[in-house]
Amino acid sequence: MTEQYQETQRRRTFAIISHPDAGKTTLTEKLLLFGGGIRLAGAVKSNKITKTAASDFMEIEKQRGISVATAVMSFDYDGTRINILDTPGHKDFSEDTYRTLTAVDSVILVIDSVKGVEEQTERLMQVCRMRDTPVMVFINKMDREGRPVFELLDELEEKLSIRVRPLTWPIGAGKHFQGVYNLHEGNVHLFTAGKTVVESERLLIEDLADPQLDRNLGTAAGRLREEVELIEGVYDPYSPEDYLDGSLAPVFFGSALNNFGVRELLETFISIAPPPRHRPAKPRTVEPDETTFSGFVFKIHANLDPRHRDRIAFLRVCSGVFERSKAFYHVRHRKEMRFTSPYSFMAEKKNVIDQAFPGDVVGLFDKGDLKIGDTLTEGEQIEFQGIPDFSPAIFKEVVNTDPMRSKQFEKGIAQLTEEGVAQLFRQDGGNRLVVGTVGDLQYEVISYRMEHEYGAACRFQPLPFSRARWITSEDPAALKEFIQYRSRNVFRDKDKKPVYLAESEYVLNSNITAHPKVSFHATSEFKLAV
Ligand code: G4P
Repeated sequence: MTEQYQETQRRRTFAIISHPDAGKTTLTEKLLLFGGGIRLAGAVKSNKITKTAASDFMEIEKQRGISVATAVMSFDYDGTRINILDTPGHKDFSEDTYRTLTAVDSVILVIDSVKGVEEQTERLMQVCRMRDTPVMVFINKMDREGRPVFELLDELEEKLSIRVRPLTWPIGAGKHFQGVYNLHEGNVHLFTAGKTVVESERLLIEDLADPQLDRNLGTAAGRLREEVELIEGVYDPYSPEDYLDGSLAPVFFGSALNNFGVRELLETFISIAPPPRHRPAKPRTVEPDETTFSGFVFKIHANLDPRHRDRIAFLRVCSGVFERSKAFYHVRHRKEMRFTSPYSFMAEKKNVIDQAFPGDVVGLFDKGDLKIGDTLTEGEQIEFQGIPDFSPAIFKEVVNTDPMRSKQFEKGIAQLTEEGVAQLFRQDGGNRLVVGTVGDLQYEVISYRMEHEYGAACRFQPLPFSRARWITSEDPAALKEFIQYRSRNVFRDKDKKPVYLAESEYVLNSNITAHPKVSFHATSEFKLAV
């Protein structure tokens, strides 16, 4: 067995996703505590872009800065290398989250037991389903009086269109929450509340029939036995294949804040979550065990220090070994590049690394050569798939308000949109520039950064569009005709692909009906139909 194979097999690269406030940050922090990645609770907290910060630009920038350092958090647990890819908590940055999901091998979805499935959970799950990403669910805040557990499970199946299978089961809830039964291993760990450190006292009871369970739980023991019997009757046995192909979500219960059920989640995650697997690319699929290196950029971050204009590109290694200072091939530019100080993110610190294996994320200093979606190889002309743009929800025309500084304006808008802060659309055959985002906060960030980083001034003018559809047709004449007919609504994206901007679902649907030869796609890679 080669070192590369062993290193790949011991990696688990994933993201934790949730509707804001469900407990993603708290869970991340607790997982890091288990891995010894951080010593103190509270260390991850600062990564959050809080609601109150929405109008405070400096605060946004500061917090974005902190999230550079925590874009990926790596630690070792019991011989496994855990790479957690951070996703921004604020919904206005969800585009960033969608892209991060292209770089993971699986996902842990956090649900608030009181609120159940919320709006953003549904959107995020759609993205996971699109790519068949294996998903595990952690139902958090069981220390609160939440919704009935069976009702929550039904809601998950219904709203997220996925089958669920509990692998742990809560013993009581709210004030009477006493621990979780591990259905996967058939044992119970009882907890003492209020512990914020890893060494929470756990009393292991190996068998449900053990009278010790009655002594510790009282009447809850009988109820637990009944519920366990019920679950085994209602739900199909856990199927690893169904989990791995994304059609079944194992469910865990706990309280991240109180460290209940987190160890069960982590240990089961390590045993069942997939190591890096094959990745679709053009013109061929790439296997992680291949000896030649390949990887792609899924995120770009501006350097916050205004004296250093370089950026940080985050590269996911897909095959082979990434080596420091080795010449790699930049597929889009068709040229060689070397990275003399690539870094990784172990235990709160950025460390310059000599090598990285499939599943790892490497931070690369970039002077503007790298774009989101770029592939690096050892010479082969391949491009990774599955890094699509999604339809923005808000569209505004960006107007240069200082014509003397047009150069700075063009450069700023181009670079910021390359970073993925927002999407840029140019009017087909015209001069209008439209910036599309998923939230209003982005416009504030862009105006602020245009002024402070590029010395340019701009203004945003609202447009009546609400969705973007990438258009194609097998009949070039039909496409051309549509573009001419709808010239006011057709723009070009960053790759010059034609995009139709619709005012409403109704207008969109009537165009779809009126132009049967034109296909309307919800993402730039045409995996999702309308
Ligand atoms: P997010 O990253 O998903 O947005 O959520 P975060 O972890 O920040 O948690 C949101 C709020 O929920 C926090 O409270 C956090 O303390 C609380 N929380 C997380 N897990 C649990 C849990 O298991 N039980 C209970 N009862 N609460 C939980 P906050 O008041 O917004 O922040 P803070 O003042 O506690 O920092």
